[in-house]
Amino acid sequence: MMTKIDPASVPQRTLYTGAKMPAIGMGTFGSDHAGAEEVANAVKGAIEVGYRSFDCAACYGNEAELGEVFADAIARGVVKREELFIASKAWNDMHGDGDILLACAKTLKDLKMDYLDIYYLHWPFPNYHAPHCDGDSRNPDSVPFSVDRFMRTWRQLERLVDMGLTRHIGMSSMTIPKLEAVLPLCRIKPAAIEMELHPCFQQPELFEYVRERGIQPVAFCPIGSPERPARDTDPEDVSDISLPEMKAIAAAHGVHPAIICLKWAVQRGQSPIPFATIPEFYISNLQSACEDPLTDEEMEIIKGLDRNNRLIKGQVFLWPGAKDWHDLWDEDGTITK
Ligand SMILES: NC(=O)c1ccc[n+]([C@@H]2O[C@H](COP(=O)([O-])OP(=O)(O)OC[C@H]3O[C@@H](n4cnc5c(N)ncnc54)[C@H](OP(=O)(O)O)[C@@H]3O)[C@@H](O)[C@H]2O)c1
Repeated sequence: MMTKIDPASVPQRTLYTGAKMPAIGMGTFGSDHAGAEEVANAVKGAIEVGYRSFDCAACYGNEAELGEVFADAIARGVVKREELFIASKAWNDMHGDGDILLACAKTLKDLKMDYLDIYYLHWPFPNYHAPHCDGDSRNPDSVPFSVDRFMRTWRQLERLVDMGLTRHIGMSSMTIPKLEAVLPLCRIKPAAIEMELHPCFQQPELFEYVRERGIQPVAFCPIGSPERPARDTDPEDVSDISLPEMKAIAAAHGVHPAIICLKWAVQRGQSPIPFATIPEFYISNLQSACEDPLTDEEMEIIKGLDRNNRLIKGQVFLWPGAKDWHDLWDEDGTITK
């Protein structure tokens, strides 16, 4: 019989609105290797074992299949809609005036829902790349970040909250300089921000900056995304789950190093959204948040593993004239134009 985890035993985060979200959810980006049916099947199993939080996005190309799964689980009484925390994201080709309402409507139709729990702006600029492109592809229409363009898009997200189409709105892949520019202009502040976070990429300044402002950091690639697309793979990248320190802590707890990544994430305060299709993996991932915590000493060891190793470098979003992927991340403390 399949292990079930009582959703009430999963730690919760309280957003600034007072709403709760599970401290761990499930990612649904099948990357370039897991098709829509495979991801939908994993989500079906995940709901049954006790997951309540799912990180979806239009550009993952599987929301219609996931919608069937959510509708079926609700119809069968496995879960109630209000017990789920459903995230989706507006893709980069939907930043234009009037686009966000259409993007959200399409997602709601596909997910078979009449509201989302959070709707993110997937990237802070309208730079589009085709699905499955390679790492060298560039779009000549790409542009640098613009506060004006961003805010015109964000205003549309704010209207979705007014209309009751999403309970919260959020941002993703932001930097401190970009947040400094846009947060004072927001009528409705982001409730959560998705950012890459794993032991080898801890982003301590951004993480603290966001938390100090009452915004929940949500961690993508929490295991170091071992199956990420080739365009996001660099020979110099470090594998979190292969580090000897991670293996030693995993051995002490009798688990896979992936589980140590997730325990560290939940205990540090971010909400990881690991992707998995294998039941053994997604069950142990959810369990990781509910039992056998890391010691303070183990947390300190992992703190020392930060290598500033960004995996999702985003070079396919570069605009004509940009130097390299570092330009996307405002590393000198100013917005790169
Ligand atoms: N906002 C953004 O721009 C953004 C960017 C990237 C990702 N995301 C979100 O974040 C989610 C997670 O990121 P990710 O999928 O790139 O990376 P990840 O969660 O760090 O890694 C997923 C990989 O780890 C493997 N895995 C999962 N649990 C495991 C376990 N217990 N033991 C061993 N291996 C395990 C999975 O294997 P199997 O595939 O074999 O099950 C999968 O290939 C995505 O699905 C997506 O929802 C958001």
